[in-house]
Amino acid sequence: MDLRNLRGLVSELDLPKIIDLIGLDRIIEAVGKDKLIQKIGLKKMIEKIGPEKAIEIASCYLTREQIEELLEKEYGGRLTTMAYVLALLASGRTKGFTASLLESAIEGAQSVENVEVELVHLHKYKFGPCTSCFACIRDESHECVLKDAMGGDGELMAKVKRANGWIIADPVHCWGPSAQIHLFIERCYPFIWSGNLEGMPFASISCASNQGMQRIANGNLCKWAFTYGLRYIGGMPVHTVYIERARQEAKTLGRKLAEAAVEDAKGRKKFPDPERYVDYLDKPWRVLEPYLDNLSNGTFEYSSSLIAQGLSNFTRQEAKDLLEQAKVHLEESLNLYKQSKHKEACDQLVRASALWTHATWKEFLEEDVVKTSVPGAYRPIVEE
Ligand SMILES: Cc1cc2nc3c(=O)[nH]c(=O)nc-3n(C[C@H](O)[C@H](O)[C@H](O)COP(=O)(O)O)c2cc1C
Repeated sequence: MDLRNLRGLVSELDLPKIIDLIGLDRIIEAVGKDKLIQKIGLKKMIEKIGPEKAIEIASCYLTREQIEELLEKEYGGRLTTMAYVLALLASGRTKGFTASLLESAIEGAQSVENVEVELVHLHKYKFGPCTSCFACIRDESHECVLKDAMGGDGELMAKVKRANGWIIADPVHCWGPSAQIHLFIERCYPFIWSGNLEGMPFASISCASNQGMQRIANGNLCKWAFTYGLRYIGGMPVHTVYIERARQEAKTLGRKLAEAAVEDAKGRKKFPDPERYVDYLDKPWRVLEPYLDNLSNGTFEYSSSLIAQGLSNFTRQEAKDLLEQAKVHLEESLNLYKQSKHKEACDQLVRASALWTHATWKEFLEEDVVKTSVPGAYRPIVEE
């Protein structure tokens, strides 16, 4: 069958039959996934192929907000959509310890109603490192232009965009997370600029079987969850010495993640910086100490800080003006931290960090590297 006939068939709206006959990929090839929903309408697609499949196709080119808006318009909250949980296995061993823990988590997740769980073995997908082209920052769509599984049109990226929650199961490699999961996380960079992962539930499992360092590895996964604005539902640093108990706990973790994903499927709740910094105070990676440590060059004193040095070395006036404001908040944050007022210290750090980010952007990135101003979703400056 040639593509013209296929286009005709698709507009006759007999989608389920055509999908069975030819397969969805071929239909998308003929019509273009960006045209499919426009041609048929999301409501008709839902009637014909069910909400899960229709939303999966729609999420290839519409943002979550646009889909939610369409669903609200058509169904006014009466449509129950299944939550979609991605269970990501980063170990090369599909029958190893890490995989067995993920299986337990999946069992827990599947015990929750209205949840579809997909196990994804990351090693099966081909994708390389970020090439620092910064197209995902410059372009308003905030899509990755690379042509691989994690590019804007990539097979794995489509699953990532659709997810209402992730459970990552990662083997401990070299006293930290595996290279595979680091690569995956790096390629999620476009979401920093779109803000589309902000508020999505996240859970992690780090499994060691030798020297250990599972706590450091899991802390790193938690750190990445923070940087993407994810909601940290829980994490398990596991050593195989207690793997039986851990398998039981993984079931509970999977269930908790799935319950949070069900809520996410009803509409994702934003997770703005001031709330998120405080929320992570009791998580395996607390943002407060490492951020203050880094900004103050390990001294916890303003005088040795990057901001103090920037005020002497920066050349652009706009960047210096931002640093002057950041200085006040960093000094205040360090003072509050020393008085053990951690929530208040977080509030001041959020302000300092946004100003610092915008200042470095002006000084180093805007004209010479990224060649665009800071996208709105990224570290917004808190109004005084
Ligand atoms: C490159 C590499 C580095 C590793 N580094 C560590 C380590 O730092 N600590 C540890 O306890 N185990 C380490 N291991 C062992 C893994 O953690 C071990 O494979 C673990 O059981 C993960 O589960 P799985 O391989 O069954 O998926 C390493 C394994 C590899 C292949």
